[in-house]
Amino acid sequence: MKGNFPIEKLKGLETPFYYYDTDLLRKTLDIVASEANKYNYQVHYAIKANANPRILSIIRENGLGADCVSGGEIMAALNAGFPTDKIVFAGVGKADWEINLGLDKDIFCFNVESLAELEVINELAEAKGRKARIALRINPEVNANTHHHITTGMKENKFGINLDQIDTVLDRLEELGSVQLIGLHFHIGSQLTDLHPFQTLCARVNDLQQQLSKRKVFVEHINFGGGLGIDYDHPNRNPIPDFQEYFKVFNKHFKPLPDQKVHFEPGRSVVGQCGNLIAKVLYVKEGSVKKFAVLDAGFTELIRPAFYEAHHKIENITSEEKEETYDIVGPICESSDTFAKQIDINKAHRGDLIALRSAGAYGEIMASQYNCRKLPKAYFSDLI
Ligand code: LLP
Repeated sequence: MKGNFPIEKLKGLETPFYYYDTDLLRKTLDIVASEANKYNYQVHYAIKANANPRILSIIRENGLGADCVSGGEIMAALNAGFPTDKIVFAGVGKADWEINLGLDKDIFCFNVESLAELEVINELAEAKGRKARIALRINPEVNANTHHHITTGMKENKFGINLDQIDTVLDRLEELGSVQLIGLHFHIGSQLTDLHPFQTLCARVNDLQQQLSKRKVFVEHINFGGGLGIDYDHPNRNPIPDFQEYFKVFNKHFKPLPDQKVHFEPGRSVVGQCGNLIAKVLYVKEGSVKKFAVLDAGFTELIRPAFYEAHHKIENITSEEKEETYDIVGPICESSDTFAKQIDINKAHRGDLIALRSAGAYGEIMASQYNCRKLPKAYFSDLI
């Protein structure tokens, strides 16, 4: 089964471009809200997944907060109208200007990833006569069983404060006057389709809270990060990830302290399925051992297959002819500019439109201008 595309309209647009199904995005957001509201969970959308201004404003209209990892993302969140008290700022390498921006805008919370960073936030806040609200990002040492490039919660990863370093950080916190500890933050990885690692994470956080209570440390906010995966193989069958099961796991296994608020910061699961990269077949190249469909989009528009060996479903949306086997490649001068090898799509001809599905997350936002190419445009189902 292929996706449902307004083909005649798409044919008139210059390729390659991103095409967003805003109806699906809104339906997804409705489900996120209704499932999270069941347990009074707070959701901050991880802007890193897609910062297209229109996508951001639709997400903001639906009441989500924003999880940012750079000053640029804080600006994008502010431009889209996210309220400052719903902006959190994470990241292992926050530059001074970015911290100052967060302080000046009085964002909700800085997720602190090291003792070194904590010292700098304290110093910069002190210089402004402010007190920064902070959460400690703890590395929970939970294996997410996902691609090694997108695993974040293990000791050897650069992220977060390791469990055996928490006491040192807490000792130092007692001496610092311009930071206020309000939360704990965790994130174990991305594209998790098996929910068990989240269950393990809950158990780890329960233990940690017990341990901290011995030191009389209680925080008001627990942030479990993002990471819920999407179905890249069957975007039509599973257009909306199972938020019901996802939040249920936390409700069942995490034991919040009285009045503790629970936060999430999903990115991919919110926007992944609503975006498609639409490209044109430039050439069908008959090699001596295989056939190539050469597209006008490459890893400059969608880097995930080259970077993470990621799989995106590929459809020829303008041909119904019998399927044939192709390598689907882009025009960039690198062998890794290959979207898929030896897959079957309807017989391809020069000018056919090809949809690379499930590209709403980490697609447009990771585009580059390598080979002096233009950045892709974006179109929306309700505006074309
Ligand atoms: N919170 C933190 C601290 C994160 O590092 C991430 C993603 C998220 C939230 C959102 O995670 P999500 O819900 O999207 O899984 N470019 C890669 C994914 C990198 C994820 C980085 N961190 C990809 O295309 O697969």
